[in-house]
Amino acid sequence: MVRSERKDENTIKAGDLIFVYLDRKRQFLIQAIQDLEFSSDLGNMDLSNIIGRPYGYVGETHLGNKFYCLKPSTADLMMKLKRRTTIVYPKDLGCLLLETVVGPGARVIDIGTGSGALAMVLAKLVAPDGKVFSYERRAEFIELARANIERAGYIENVEFHCCDPAEQEFSQVDIDAVFVDVPEPWTIVPKAAIALKGGHHLVCWSPNIEQVKKTVEALNQNGFVRIRTSELLEREMLVRQQGVRPRERSITHTAYLVRAQKILEAIRD
Ligand SMILES: C[S@@+](CC[C@H](N)C(=O)[O-])C[C@H]1O[C@@H](n2cnc3c(N)ncnc32)[C@H](O)[C@@H]1O
Repeated sequence: MVRSERKDENTIKAGDLIFVYLDRKRQFLIQAIQDLEFSSDLGNMDLSNIIGRPYGYVGETHLGNKFYCLKPSTADLMMKLKRRTTIVYPKDLGCLLLETVVGPGARVIDIGTGSGALAMVLAKLVAPDGKVFSYERRAEFIELARANIERAGYIENVEFHCCDPAEQEFSQVDIDAVFVDVPEPWTIVPKAAIALKGGHHLVCWSPNIEQVKKTVEALNQNGFVRIRTSELLEREMLVRQQGVRPRERSITHTAYLVRAQKILEAIRD
């Protein structure tokens, strides 16, 4: 790629998302539009000429405080979307994505859609020609997720289904990975086993260990092997002149992560 094209990639265009950062408490995900103005308690930010500037741009509020126009990470896109449900946390999703084969062109199933955080990340990964089939039983959450994913720019890669897959088969087969984030994952396992490609992965999240136990039983009964469960703990560190130590308050528990792979019946010659 020639240098001028690379430079252009880093230029803020109309509709792009910008992570505007003042400090830890003041960070916003903003869509670039003409004549954009934005304000915080640290002053008004003039973003009227932001289109055409590069990411990394440093501005100053009318009260003289610096603000930074940063490129949002995938985790920023997740954490800043409009939420009406709990969402999958980046630390948990990051790990499980590496334990599946999701990438450009993949066809994956996501149950339940909720606020669309997981569906949005999956859509970003399967783009440009893959598909996320996202299942949700409540229509209002599909509309919320649609708006969130449209804003992030990946709606072309998502197909929503408003139903309960515990009660009916998935419409898809030969799926590369199944992601389950519902309170009763074990009810989905038999249907997921039919939709998944042989050897491929089902992953799910549950806040309580009682849920995990039932899910693992269902996985054992429906032709899954290599079933593993874990919990990931993350501690943020304060790195300062006066002393380096963990932050006192943090999210101590998110979910238990379960992953498994589907086998086919033994083939005899
Ligand atoms: C925790 S939220 C999912 C959040 C989502 N993964 C995200 O990252 O934004 C769980 C969602 O599953 C939906 N749900 C629960 N059981 C379901 C089922 N059997 N079939 C379809 N959707 C279901 C709920 O309505 C809720 O929206």
